[in-house]
Order: sequence, then structure tokens, then C-alpha cells
Amino acid sequence: MSNGPVNVRDVERLAEDRLQSGPLGYYAGGAGDERTLRDNEAAYARRRLRPRVLVDVSEVSTATTVLGQEVAMPVLVAPVALQKMAHPDGEPGMARAAADAGTIMCVSTLATSTPREVCDAAPGAPRWFQVYVLKDRAVSRALVDEAVDCGYRALVLTVDAPRAGRRERDLRTGFTVPPGIEMPGVTAAAGTSQLTPAEFFSLVDTSLTWADLERLAAECDVPVLVKGVHTAQDARLAVEHGAAGVIVSNHGGRQLDGVPASLDMLEEVVQEVGGEVEVLVDGGVRRGTDVLVALALGARAVLVGRPALWGLAWDGEAGARRVLGMLQEELALGLTLLGAPTPAGVTRAHVA
Ligand code: FNR
Ligand code: LAC
Repeated sequence: MSNGPVNVRDVERLAEDRLQSGPLGYYAGGAGDERTLRDNEAAYARRRLRPRVLVDVSEVSTATTVLGQEVAMPVLVAPVALQKMAHPDGEPGMARAAADAGTIMCVSTLATSTPREVCDAAPGAPRWFQVYVLKDRAVSRALVDEAVDCGYRALVLTVDAPRAGRRERDLRTGFTVPPGIEMPGVTAAAGTSQLTPAEFFSLVDTSLTWADLERLAAECDVPVLVKGVHTAQDARLAVEHGAAGVIVSNHGGRQLDGVPASLDMLEEVVQEVGGEVEVLVDGGVRRGTDVLVALALGARAVLVGRPALWGLAWDGEAGARRVLGMLQEELALGLTLLGAPTPAGVTRAHVA
């Protein structure tokens, strides 16, 4: 790549060259046979766009809103743990990249920075906080309070990971969080961060029910989205228990292997609750044209996990920024060639 990477896949290859086998396996890996991991991307490849012509596309904009919050594009940064293991810039660098790209970063409970450190890295930028409710509820509560106090504009309750999926790449490499890499939430709950994924996942409260969502939504001054919904039935329950939004997700294929690609679950959820709350989707988005497909099937926006992470691993904040820029460039071109000048203009008729 004499002129540098031109797409997310190029960046992925550069990131692979920079990461040791343990962290690479953790970041890239899925659960079990990785059927869902592969299918997340394959699902986009199965879809065909239906462009309309002779539409005035002299002025195209990727800008939109998500939960009423303005973003430069319907592409958000998904919560990803352990970002300082990818690059010393870590979550603060990702926050600056997302802020510069004009989009929302979702910060993980298992971040290697505190909510406030991330906030201070890009003051005023729109940001959400992803919640794992830990057995030690005081730790989760403290993280949520800190995030809300420093202006995080929504909470994202992750509901598809009461335990870690069977991460066989981690079993093969014997992956454990390396010395010197600390997740403040994990250390607060367990006394150390040098744990395997199964060990730090064991800190999560497996007794959570819809009543806990209802309580969180009632207690919080910011909207709460539910991340990891696979079915219309659970989307309905999420809305009934106070969710302001639903993220259709299978955790990037890292949890229950054999579930459908997240794109293939999207329409069922949109049909059930799309008229009441915004529905987002993540998993397998690697191209601006993938974003068009998700929008056409009813998503308000998508989130990207690994793409942003590959950018961070390759070149820190600048790398993450470059990846977000690639996706925005591809989306703007895609809107133009699709004959839809804005994200709101993309309809179900634009996908076969
Ligand atoms: C994740 N994901 C995740 N989700 C979450 O709610 N909290 C978390 O801490 C993490 N951590 C995490 C680490 C790594 C290395 C990966 C790859 C993923 C899931 C993430 O938010 C998102 O659902 C998927 O990454 C989306 O799929 P893609 O974009 O990676 O294909
Ligand atoms: C993972 C957790 C941290 O997927 O969400 O590894």
C-alpha cells in the first residue's frame, strides 16, 4: 500500500501486523466456530442496492440525528473494551477521533480509561456510556454516575453478554489482559485487571431482568438504549420497560455462535418497534454501502466496533480518525450514486 490504506480492510491488515497474537485473537475473534462472525459481513454481501437515477444530487449530506443528537453521519463508534491494549492513545484517542469525525463514541464499562478521562479528552463531544451491570452493583453505579455527571448523553445497557461467549482464539493463545493494562471498573470490582475474558465477564450480574432495565431507565436523566436484542419479542419488552432505543446486535459474533447475522435480524425488530423508538444495528459493517443497506432496512444508524479498533491499533487517534473518514467518504459517494441526497432519503425500495 504505497499510498496508504484506502479502505477498512486495508487498515485491518495493517492492524494485524501491529498486534501480538493474544490481543489480535481477542479483538478479531468470535465465539465457537465463528459462523455468526462470518455471517455478519456476509449478510451485507448478500444484499443488492437499487439506485434511482436523475435525482438532483448536487448537494449530498451524510448528516443526521440519533436520539435527537446531531451527528455528521449515521455511523457511531461501538463500545469496545481494552482500547489501550490496541494503542497507547486508547479510549481518549478514540474519543478525539470520533469528536473530530462529528459522531458519537460509545465508551465501554470495560474501558482502559475512566468515563471522566474520556470526557476530558474531547470535552463537549457527544458520547454514550455502555453499561455492564456487575455483581458489585456499587461499581456499575459509580461508573454510570460519573458518566452522567460529565455529560454522557445516553446509556447503552448491553444484554447479550451475561457470560463471555466461547472465545476459542483466546483459549488457544491463553489470552490474559497484559500487565500494565488496567480497566478501572474491573480493578474496582476484582482487585486486578490481569484476567482472562471469561474471568472479567464473570463479574457481570447474570440475574439481570427486564425489571432492572425499567429501574435504570426510571432512575436515569438520560435515555437508555438496549444493546444485544435479537428478536421482535425482546424489542417489544425493551420498549415496554423504558428503552429509548434498541441496538440490534450479536456482539460482533462473540457471544452465542449460530444466531443470525445482525443485519438479518434488523427488519423484524424495525417492524415491531421502529415506529416508536429508533433502531440501530451493529456487526459486520465495513463499507459505506453497508451503511446504506442498514438504513434502507430501517436502521437509524449503525455502530462499528472492529473497524474503529483497527484504525486505533494501526495508528492511534489518527488511524481511528482515518477509518471514520473512509466510511464517511464512502457513504457520501454511495448516497450520491444511490440517488438519495441524505440518510433520511434512503428507503426500503433502495434495497432488493
Ligand atoms: C466488543 N463489543 C462490546 N460490546 C459491549 O457492549 N461492551 C464491550 O465492552 C464490548 N467489547 C468489545 C470488544 C471487542 C474486541 C469487540 C470486537 C467487540 C461488541 C461491540 O460493541 C459491537 O457489538 C461489535 O463489535 C460490532 O461488530 P463489528 O463492528 O466489530 O463487526
Ligand atoms: C467482549 C466484551 C468485553 O466482547 O464485550 O470482549
